[in-house]
Amino acid sequence: MKNFKVLSKRKEKFKNFSSKQGEPQIRHAKIEDFSSFVSLEKICFKEETFSKKQLKYLFFRAKSIVLVAALEGEVVGSMIILLRERVSYARIYSLNVHPQRRRAGIGRLLMDTALELLKEKGFGKVSLEVGVNNRAAQNLYRQKGFAADKTLRGYYKDGGDALHLVRKL
Ligand SMILES: CC(C)(COP(=O)(O)OP(=O)(O)OC[C@H]1O[C@@H](n2cnc3c(N)ncnc32)[C@H](O)[C@@H]1OP(=O)(O)O)[C@@H](O)C(=O)NCCC(=O)NCCS
Repeated sequence: MKNFKVLSKRKEKFKNFSSKQGEPQIRHAKIEDFSSFVSLEKICFKEETFSKKQLKYLFFRAKSIVLVAALEGEVVGSMIILLRERVSYARIYSLNVHPQRRRAGIGRLLMDTALELLKEKGFGKVSLEVGVNNRAAQNLYRQKGFAADKTLRGYYKDGGDALHLVRKL
């Protein structure tokens, strides 16, 4: 019974966003995407990755939006957005693009879709954390209007610092 509720929750949220021919399709994650989603996390974040249990929780149970970028039937990008009850700001918790599909606009497409979706849902602000040395992600976030408001010392497992970025919607 518990499982049934979880499955229906993810089904309810399923939606495709429009995409042009040959471009990745950004859509809500489906239950069948879970194993590809886990594989992508492992490829992109090796050391700093979430455990499978954490990913299962984020994917199926947390008050979250999970978006995937699908290209030629494969999941090539993903984003987890965390939402909280009665709080008007959202948090982008994870963003990944497969290493062989980078620099092709997929990260930007995922971000554009997320910002549009959150605005549509009435959120006023969105935040995220990014490694101080992660130039690629920082460039993308700055390009999309995020600005740093603080540094989080020792934020990562390896002791690395992160920047906390915010953007109004
Ligand atoms: C960060 C990441 C999601 C970007 O995805 P992507 O699909 O390659 O990015 P896009 O092609 O949409 O690029 C959008 C912008 O990001 C910036 N960018 C992306 N890759 C970059 C790189 N290697 N070096 C510098 N800037 C880069 C650029 O500003 C780029 O705009 P431009 O093409 O007009 O120059 C991807 O590199 C990734 O998955 N990295 C590993 C996981 C990660 O670090 N996630 C973020 C955690 S906070």
